Amino acid sequence: MRTFVLSLFTLATAISDAEKSLGKFLVNRTDPVEPCFRAEFVIKFRNGGDTVDFTDIKPILGLNNDNVNNITSNCDRLQIDNIPNESGGSFSLAIDINIREEAEGADWWEVNEINYTGYDTEGNDLGTFKNDSMQRISAPLAGTWGQSFLCNAGFDVELWNEDQDKFVTINLARLQIQPHKVPEDTFANPVICEEGKNINIVIPAIVGSILGVLVLVVLVTYIIGRKRTRIAYQEI
Ligand SMILES: *[C@@H]1O[C@H](CO)[C@@H](O)[C@H](O)[C@H]1NC(C)=O
Ligand SMILES: *[C@@H]1O[C@H](CO)[C@@H](O)[C@H](O)[C@H]1NC(C)=O
Ligand SMILES: *[C@@H]1O[C@H](CO)[C@@H](O)[C@H](O)[C@H]1NC(C)=O
Ligand SMILES: *[C@@H]1O[C@H](CO)[C@@H](O)[C@H](O)[C@H]1NC(C)=O
Ligand SMILES: *[C@@H]1O[C@H](CO)[C@@H](O)[C@H](O)[C@H]1NC(C)=O
Repeated sequence: MRTFVLSLFTLATAISDAEKSLGKFLVNRTDPVEPCFRAEFVIKFRNGGDTVDFTDIKPILGLNNDNVNNITSNCDRLQIDNIPNESGGSFSLAIDINIREEAEGADWWEVNEINYTGYDTEGNDLGTFKNDSMQRISAPLAGTWGQSFLCNAGFDVELWNEDQDKFVTINLARLQIQPHKVPEDTFANPVICEEGKNINIVIPAIVGSILGVLVLVVLVTYIIGRKRTRIAYQEI
């Protein structure tokens, strides 16, 4: 019984971490005020040259809309600030969108550039790293809402400094992103990435929450049960 409860507890912690690691971001246009850039993803970070595998790196927890820089962000650009770096510094991440005409009258949006700026504990700028060959993240803009881009499996992006002698790597998973024409509280129909066409191992949030509640119920029942047993013993 104890092992069972312990493994349930581990599962509950894992599910809760999985939920906390999914950062959700929304940028609004001002006139009229309505969403025009929606994004969510789990992000992992690795210094250039580190050989550790991303499966052994913990995702960054607790990112949300409070991290969105609402001055520099707009319908073409999402900037996320104050992302904690494990040594006490932080970094900003900006995702830049470009609209291109795929064919006569058929517009697509694409991620044009992702850049990273590191800061030390005092907030001093440690330099910018970027990747401006990101066209893999793209989707049509046709129709009322256009389409979002979805990649559950995720992928790595190398970001290089200006002198091209230093880089960092980020891993983006459970990524969904949609600029410009964005439904009020959801994403439009997605274009699925190559990596995501075969596998989909993500536990959806609802299933996660139900499991979480179940785990709590079992745990509470177990604890109450144990107390009763103890009291019963003491009475003998
Ligand atoms: C955009 O609007 C939503 C809903 O009103 C709000 O929750 C969110 O914080 C806004 N985004 C930014 C970056 O201010
Ligand atoms: C922009 O962000 C700041 C700091 O998070 C917040 O105080 C302010 O209300 C936001 N402005 C808008 C228009 O959302
Ligand atoms: C990211 O790139 C954009 C476009 O090149 C630039 O305007 C912006 O300053 C960069 N952001 C950072 C944090 O360096
Ligand atoms: C993370 O923060 C530390 C402490 O400020 C800093 O020395 C280090 O260079 C930062 N790492 C990166 C990759 O920016
Ligand atoms: C952008 O990232 C991809 C994937 O990591 C990499 O293959 C490509 O070389 C990078 N491009 C630049 C300009 O750094």
